[in-house]
Amino acid sequence: MSQAKPSPEPINAVSRRRFLALLVHGGWAAALGVLVYQIGRFLGAEGLQTGPAPLVIAGKLADFPPETTIYVPEARAWVQREAASLTALDAVCPHLGCLVQQKEGGGFRCPCHGSEFGVAGELERGPAERPLRQLEIQTQPDDIVTIRTT
Ligand code: FES
Repeated sequence: MSQAKPSPEPINAVSRRRFLALLVHGGWAAALGVLVYQIGRFLGAEGLQTGPAPLVIAGKLADFPPETTIYVPEARAWVQREAASLTALDAVCPHLGCLVQQKEGGGFRCPCHGSEFGVAGELERGPAERPLRQLEIQTQPDDIVTIRTT
């Protein structure tokens, strides 16, 4: 009477059970990484922000004619030029970070949850609880306009 020999298992074989366990643990690790990253971004951790560069060249002064409000996407900012003054407002809504749009008749409105801001960025209507952030804007001697976004 002969007995069938069990087939020898290859030395480096990964069992189906072990493979599935690795897959599940890898998935949990990836999900945890994404969760930590998103929480860090939400809390404003340095190095996790994907915003504009700290100092942005917005263009020449002539690109901002008097009495205009122009969006500068590189800085995510609204630049307003009145007679002699140049101001920049952060276009990022202080509620949850959507980009505010210019309202007809002046001011800004967030398309996400409806917060409204005045021409100078002052809060007019929530759910945002803070005004738009004023950004430092400068005209260099060669008429180059720079915006500090941090
Ligand atoms: S993100 Fe602007 S109102 Fe919510």
